[in-house]
Order: sequence, then C-alpha cells, then structure tokens
Amino acid sequence: MCPRPSPDNNPRFFDSESKRYEKITTAVYEDSALASQYVAGKIADLIRAKAAKGEYAVLGLATGSSPIEVYNNLIRMHQHEGLSFKNVITFNLDEYYPMQPDSQQSYVRFMNEHLFDHIDIDRQHIHIPDGTLAPEEVKDFCLRYEAEIQRAGGIDLQLLGIGRTGHIGFNEPGSSLQSKTRLVRLDRITRLDAASDFFGVEGVPQRAITMGVGSILAARKIILLAWGEGKAQIIRETVEGTVKESVPATFLQNHPDCEVILDEAAGSELTRIKTPWLVQEPVWDDKLIKKAVIWLAARVQKVILQLTNEDYNEYGMGELVAEYGSAEEINLKVFNDIQHTITGWPGGKPNVDDTTRPERATPFPKTALVFSPHPDDDVISMGGTIIRLTDQGHNVHVAYQTSGNISVFDDEVIRYIDFTKEIVGDSDKKLADRLAKIQTELAAKQPGDLDTDEVRSFKGYIRMGEAKSACRVCNVPPANVHFQNLPFYETGAVKKSPLGEEDIKLTMELIKKIKPQQIFAAGDLSDPHGTHRVCLSALFTALRRLKKTEKWLKDTYVWLYRGAWQEWGIADIEMAVPIGPRDLLRKRLAIFKHQSQKDVAMFPGTDQREFWERAEDRNKATARAYDDLGMAQYEAIEAFVKWEF
Ligand code: F6R
Repeated sequence: MCPRPSPDNNPRFFDSESKRYEKITTAVYEDSALASQYVAGKIADLIRAKAAKGEYAVLGLATGSSPIEVYNNLIRMHQHEGLSFKNVITFNLDEYYPMQPDSQQSYVRFMNEHLFDHIDIDRQHIHIPDGTLAPEEVKDFCLRYEAEIQRAGGIDLQLLGIGRTGHIGFNEPGSSLQSKTRLVRLDRITRLDAASDFFGVEGVPQRAITMGVGSILAARKIILLAWGEGKAQIIRETVEGTVKESVPATFLQNHPDCEVILDEAAGSELTRIKTPWLVQEPVWDDKLIKKAVIWLAARVQKVILQLTNEDYNEYGMGELVAEYGSAEEINLKVFNDIQHTITGWPGGKPNVDDTTRPERATPFPKTALVFSPHPDDDVISMGGTIIRLTDQGHNVHVAYQTSGNISVFDDEVIRYIDFTKEIVGDSDKKLADRLAKIQTELAAKQPGDLDTDEVRSFKGYIRMGEAKSACRVCNVPPANVHFQNLPFYETGAVKKSPLGEEDIKLTMELIKKIKPQQIFAAGDLSDPHGTHRVCLSALFTALRRLKKTEKWLKDTYVWLYRGAWQEWGIADIEMAVPIGPRDLLRKRLAIFKHQSQKDVAMFPGTDQREFWERAEDRNKATARAYDDLGMAQYEAIEAFVKWEF
C-alpha cells in the first residue's frame, strides 16, 4: 500500500470523499482550546473587516459552556491585540423566563461575566431577551426583538451551541423552520441538564424566551460549537441525519454558510471518524485495526476468532486482509492484544514474565497514588482495583482533589448538627450558638442561594467522613488518605474558578512526598467545564513540571480511569481488571459509605440510577463486551488507559 499522510487531527486532512456523509461543513479539532481559538479568530476578522469599512458587525451570541473559551479568546484579543468592540452590536439567543438579570443563572449575568464586562462594547448595543417582563408584555417584546435585529441590518455571524435534545437557542424538538423569537417551554432533558446550575431540577424555570429557528437561519453566517462525548450522538444526527423538526439543529443543513466546529470527542460518532474504513481506505495502524475488528465482531455478532475473510471484505476491510494475508492472522493479533490487557494484578504480578502484561512485576509491592476528583470517584470508578491492590500488599494512597461540598443536601447538615447537639448538650455554649446560627442560615436559604463559608465547610466535613469510611472498607490506611481541597473548586457555586498556581503546587507537593510508582486518575479529558477535567489538568501540569527535576518519575505509570458517567471504548482499554462477585460486593459497600450521595444525588443528570448501580452496570457491561469478543467470561471489569508523559 502506498504511504499516506497520517490523520493528525488536522481538520484540513479529511478530503471531500471522506466527508461525503456530512451535510454541513464540519471541522474536528484536537481539542476545544484550539477550536475556540479558530472561532474567535473568525469573529475578530469580521469585526476588523467591518471596522475598516466603517460598519457595524452584528453578532448573534450564545451562552452555556460551549462558547466560554471563545469569549476568553476575544477578551485576550481585546486586552493584548487591540481588538475593539466599539463597532459591535450583539443579540443573545435566549434567556430563562422568568429570570432576574442579577440572579446566578441569568444569561444577562453570564454574558457580563464572560464577555461584556471585559471589553469596550457600548452597552446600548447589547440585546438579551428580558426575563423580567410581565406575561402580557412578552409577545410585544419578542416582536420588537426581531425588529431590532432587522434594524441593525440582520445578523452577520451567529454563534450556536447545541443541546442534547438537538435544540439550538431554546428551540426544542418540534420547533418549526419558520419560528421567530417567542416564549417556549423547555424540554425535560434540557431542564435536567440545567439542574446543576439551579441546585436541583425543581429550581429550573419551565420556560424561556428564545430567538426562533427562522431568526437563527436568517443570519448570514452560522458557527455551531460542540465539545465532549456527551454531544457526539446529537452531532452525528445534526450533520449526517435527515432534516426533521424532532432535531431542530438539522435545519442548519439548509443554511448556505454554516460551519460545525468540534473537538475530537464531539466528532467521535461521525462516520469518517468512527468507521473510516466504510468511507475510504484508511491508513491502517494497530489502533485502527483493533477498533475496526471490535466493530466488525459486534456488527456480524461473532467472537473475534470466528471472523472470516468474507466478513472483512463485506465491511470495507478487504485491503487490510490482503495486506495481512488472512483474516485468521488479523483475528489472532487483535485477540492477543485484548487478552494482554486483562490482569488480576493491577500492581503487577511478582516473579513472572511481565513482557505482555500491562504492569511491571517489579518493584513489588508498589506505592500507588489514586487521585479522586470528588470524594467518591475513587470507589465508584476503581473500587475493585483499589481492593485488589491493598489485598495484594501494595501501599495505596488516595488523594481527594476537591471537597465535593456543593453536592451535600442541607438536611444532611441539620442531621449532623442534631447529632452534635445531643453529644454536646449544654456543656459548650459557644458551639451550641454556632450550630444554631447555621440552622438559622439554612432555614432562611432560598432556592439557588449560595451557602455561607461555614455551611460549606460543614458539608465538606461530611464528605470527608464518608471518604474515610469508604477507605476503611478498601483497607487504605488512615495515614494514606489525603484531602487536597483544591482552591479552584471553592466558589460555592457550580461555576468554578480557573485552575490556579496553588492547585498545581499542592498537587506537585503531594506527588513529591509520596513518590508513587503508580498514579491513577480520572481521565475525563473532553468534559469542557467539569471538575474532573480541571483536576486532570492540575495533575498533568504538575507531572510535566515535576518530570524535569524528579528523575524517579520516569518509572511511574499513570493509569486513567473514567469518571462516574462513561466508560472507555473497548478498543482504547490498556488494562482491564476483572472483579469477581465477592469484590464487587465489597466495592458496593464502599460506595454505600457515601451516604450523602445515596438514594438521590444532588446533580443526578438524566440517569436515575444510584452511583453504585451505575458503577456495577458499567463494570458488568465491560465484562460482557470482553465476553462477546471471545475472552473469558468475567463478572465485572474495571478499565484503564495509560497516559504517556
Ligand atoms: C444558550 C443556548 C443553548 C446552548 C445549548 C448548549 O444560549 O441557547 O442552546 O447553546 O444548550 O449548552 P452548552 O454549551 O452548555 O452545552
């Protein structure tokens, strides 16, 4: 086969043939940071070109997590590259209804904090739907909003995010192609997705004012942004599916100048990325071969060793077979590859040949450091592996990166106050007064209000106690349990501060003190705003810096587990640790120790299952997937990917 350029995540690499399934111009960037730079550059070009002609640039703007990095780039360009917004007029897509502009969740407040307060835009040029109107005023307001867009000359560039329902703006499934600015009812999934911003789904408004699909499509140019695995499926439907009202974003296929800008995770379901061999002959490497064989086995419902030349030919892998000689050879190679990921010795098995094992035999025992973003991610995601490691004599440390205090219900605090009052009685007046004050503060709290510092620290203590208790179940010694309380998390709100020097310093100090031969961490790389990604970024930055001075680190393996929500793709797994029925039960008991998160979690998302159920279902599903490929039949499997640094 002639050598081909390798797909290096360069959005320009994919030729038009490989994109033939795509009905909207789509570019996949290595990560959301690079993609956001590109989009901010486009906006800046437009503003400058218009300024040069003495004209206004009219921007349609979105809120939500997707455009935040774009806005950060625009602010940077304003502060350091002389980009002025004096000639810019903006129209925001939407606002919750009802909503006060200074409230935590208001899109007015969002826009001020993320963009307008930091640039030189004329406040008169900012338009955002008004959530404070009386019901009878809404209709007129919507008509005026449309008229103002017209008066400004129409929107030059409209920025969009996309909801998991396929909404653009708040145009939920069922919105028509012609719809204009209006009051709408929010979809259940949209409200669940917003629940974390409102401290529970009950607090999320039922309605919103949004520009319509018709108003959006009237823009001269549209850029839709999407980051993370959570958006991958809806992006595939939007870009490759048929146009339908049940997925309003598909209407974008009708627009003459629309670009969809993605990170790798959001693009991962596109045909050219998920199954490139179906589109054209790809550059086959070991990773892609493994991915393709696993896909083929699922497709024809056979175990790997039963796949035939005909199966390969039928599904666009004929050239691969020709190159290797036969299906049997490919089957065997991939089968062995997957087989070698399985180990019951996650810390390495002593005194055996370790050449095909994921972990080294020596040193034995090892010192392992498990980083857990919240106080329960360790046991939820790798409780079985922690139990294995301690049972096998390794020295396991656990570092809880954040306090997790925002996801404790107020009633838990009251429960502990009652408990403490019983013990203390009248013996400590000062403490009794303090507890009474907290109870008064909690009683006065309105939905959406932030906790006081003291309440937050109480909530943090509750989670600390639970984490220590779970560590006892896993036989992690008390001296090995570390609470980092990284400062970026301590805003009291769902929106966190950016990662700071102190977060990185605390992480570096801990690693230097423990000198682990193994590090485990939550590897949710593509979650653009979540705590997991920030925690991982603190760890990666700390490791990159330490590597320069700490020579011992070159012998440290870093294993990434996935957080509570998703598992690694089978083709990506590099260490699979089977968990037997007895240890699965021990893991469940460890998760049970996180009582404040049991029964009902503060931020459950759309998944109604409890964390222990999600963990077990996921671990059992991984075992079933291995079984379906022809591996041994295990009860459950925890999965890891190695990070090379
Ligand atoms: C925001 C808006 C919404 C969001 C969408 C995605 O103004 O209209 O359509 O763009 O819900 O939200 P994020 O970006 O938070 O995933």
